[in-house]
Amino acid sequence: MDHFLYRNGTLHAEDVAVADIAAQVGTPFYVYSAATLARHYTLFTEALSPLPHLVCFAIKSLSNVAVLKLLGDLGAGMDVVSGGEYRRAVAAGVPGDRIVFSGVGKTREEMRLALEGGIRQFNVESEPELRALSEVASSMGTTAPITIRVNPDVDARTHEKIATGKKDNKFGIPISRASEVYAEAAKLPGLQVIGIDVHIGSQLTELEPFEQAYKKVADLTLRLRSEGHTISRLDLGGGLGIPYERSNSAPPLPHDYGALIKRTVGHLGCEIEIEPGRLISGNSGLLVSKVIYVKSGEISDFLIVDAAMNDLVRPSMYGAHHDIIPVTESKAATEAHTYDVVGPVCETGDTFAKARPLAPLAEDDLIAFRSAGAYGAVMASEYNTRPLIPEVLVKDDQFAVIRARPSYEEILNRDTIPLWL
Ligand code: LLP
Repeated sequence: MDHFLYRNGTLHAEDVAVADIAAQVGTPFYVYSAATLARHYTLFTEALSPLPHLVCFAIKSLSNVAVLKLLGDLGAGMDVVSGGEYRRAVAAGVPGDRIVFSGVGKTREEMRLALEGGIRQFNVESEPELRALSEVASSMGTTAPITIRVNPDVDARTHEKIATGKKDNKFGIPISRASEVYAEAAKLPGLQVIGIDVHIGSQLTELEPFEQAYKKVADLTLRLRSEGHTISRLDLGGGLGIPYERSNSAPPLPHDYGALIKRTVGHLGCEIEIEPGRLISGNSGLLVSKVIYVKSGEISDFLIVDAAMNDLVRPSMYGAHHDIIPVTESKAATEAHTYDVVGPVCETGDTFAKARPLAPLAEDDLIAFRSAGAYGAVMASEYNTRPLIPEVLVKDDQFAVIRARPSYEEILNRDTIPLWL
C-alpha cells in the first residue's frame, strides 16, 4: 500500500497534488511519501516482533539524508556499504551502534572512519578483509565487532545482475569453509566475532530461496557454537521484492517473511537483523515527468518525456518494468493507445517502456513512474549533462525539496581547465 492516490481527478502524494509540486519545482523530479516510508518500515518491525531485532535500512536504495532521518527517528538502523553512506547515516543523526557496514571492498580508511565514529558491526566478506580489519582495529587499540558473510550457494531466482548468493558470485565466503574462516577470525587480534551474515539477492518474489538460505544459517549457527564461537546475532540481509506491475501477482508480504524467519532461526536465541531497502523505499517514491513531444513512428508512437535513463536507469539496465500513470485521472480511464515511452538521451537504450498501453497523452501532460523510490535517484547520473533531478519529500499536506536541482553553473564549475592548456 502506498499514499499516491487520485483525488478530484488528480494524482496526490498524501495530501499534496503532484501537479502543484511540478508547478513549483519543475519536472522531472522524484517525490517520496513519508507515510509510506514509515509504514513499510513498521511492517518489518511488527513482522519480527517479539524477537529481539533491528531493521537496518539499506541506504543504497534511497540515500537522501532527510529520508534517513525520518527512518532513523523511528528507530531504524542503517546498512551502509561505503564511507559516503556511513557519513550520510551519521549526518541523519543515526548513532553508530545502529549502523552496520556491508560490502566486499571496504578500504582501511573506511574501516577507520567507522571504528572512530562508532559501528554496530562489520559484515566481513573475505579473509583478506578479516586480516585488514584486524590490523586497523589493533593499530587503533580497539576491537571491531564482526559477523562473517557466508555465501550459501542458493539460487535467489531473481535477475542475474542482482543475485548474490550463488557460489560464482563475488559475495561472502563459501559456507563450506565457514569453520576454517571463523577459526582464523577467533585467533586474530582486534576482532570480536558476534554472528553470521547472509544476503542472497534483491527483488526476490518467493520465500523459498530465503528459507533454504536461513536453514543453512541455522545449521551453521549450531555448528559454530559447538566449535566454541559466540553466535548471538544473525544478519539475514535484505531482498524482499515489491510488486512493480499492479496487474501481476504480488510477492510475499513482510508478515510472511517475518513468520519464515521465526520458523527457521527464531529458536536460536539470536538477535535478528535484516537489511531491507527496496521494500521500504520502492513504492514510497514516484518519478514525475512531463511529455515533451508525441512523435508518430513507423511502427509505434513515441512519447518523448523529459526524464531519461540518466534519471531512472533501471529499465535500461535491467529491463525493469515501472508502471506509468497519468497525473490527471480522467486520462487514466481509457487505455486507448500504445506508446514507446522514451527520454531525450541519444541512445536507443533510453527507453522506459515499449508498446505500453496508456490513455492518450499530449505535449505538457504530466506522467508518473511508479515504484521509483528504490534504486532511482541513487543510481542517477548527469549523462548528456542533464542535471541531477530534485528530490521532494511529502508529509501530510506539506512538501519540501530535500535535494535541489543543481544549477548549470554548479555543474560547469566542477570542471577545471589546467593553466597549461
Ligand atoms: N543488503 C545487502 C548486502 C545488499 O547488497 C542489498 C542490495 C541489500 C541489503 C538491499 O536489498 P533490497 O532489500 O533493496 O532488495 N540496483 C538494483 C538492486 C541492487 C541491490 C544491491 N544490493 C535494482 O535497481 O534493482
